[in-house]
Amino acid sequence: MTLPKHIAIIMDGNGRWAQLKRKPRTFGHIKGTRVAKKIITACSRQGIKNLTLYAFSTENWFRPQTEVSFLMKLLGRYLRKETENLVKENIRFSVIGDLSKLPSDVFQAIQKASETTAQCTGLNLVFALSYGSRQEITVAVREIAEKVARGEISPGQIDEAMISTSLSTYPTPDPDLIVRTSGEQRLSNFLLWQAAYSEFYFTEVLWPNFTEAHLDEALSAFSVRQRRYGKVATNDNLEKLSN
Ligand code: IPE
Ligand code: IPE
Ligand code: MG
Repeated sequence: MTLPKHIAIIMDGNGRWAQLKRKPRTFGHIKGTRVAKKIITACSRQGIKNLTLYAFSTENWFRPQTEVSFLMKLLGRYLRKETENLVKENIRFSVIGDLSKLPSDVFQAIQKASETTAQCTGLNLVFALSYGSRQEITVAVREIAEKVARGEISPGQIDEAMISTSLSTYPTPDPDLIVRTSGEQRLSNFLLWQAAYSEFYFTEVLWPNFTEAHLDEALSAFSVRQRRYGKVATNDNLEKLSN
């Protein structure tokens, strides 16, 4: 089975899951964190090399203050509790996003988890946190423009590779598979540049109900996708179609 080298997941539906149970939205976030933990371990054990989890978007800052601070607390707690486990599982942890907006204890927990797991060689686990793809691209464009202004490069030297390496996701490869739970079929400002040739997998399952079996379904759906990158099908690809 062809495994994606990089899976990115938009973990959506925590609030609706809780509302269906007549519980506060925060209840859904707690369950969602537990599910994330399970899926991280599952990906690691399946030999996936890179996993990016969309945990909090730049737009999520505009949610009610109580929900935002709850999410921040949950995140800090998760990181402090999980770091040891990540090392045990040989998982390297890092974050993409605008960390300047985070509460200082969460920022410190991120620093600590990143440093402690820096030498791990298994799964590369990336949390997209206070992340927005348009902001990421804006920052990259600004950096490149400054290089031009300083005379270090000429505009003609700007190419796709330079843009890719200027993004916060570098050196993680582009996602092969993007999964979104809860029935929504949109990117919500996630990995816009990097998703140019990603395969998408949408499921109605709400994130707190997402299990390893659902992950396996996504992986097997991916394994039979024909990726052509604008070219014509190869024999290998055609075989997948006829099976
Ligand atoms: C995803 O679940 C978690 C975050 C965005 C932090 P939501 O909180 O978006 O849940 P719904 O989409 O409102 O159900
Ligand atoms: C995207 O979900 C962000 C995360 C899952 C962290 P949202 O729930 O914020 O996205 P919209 O508002 O439905 O597009
Ligand atoms: Mg949502």
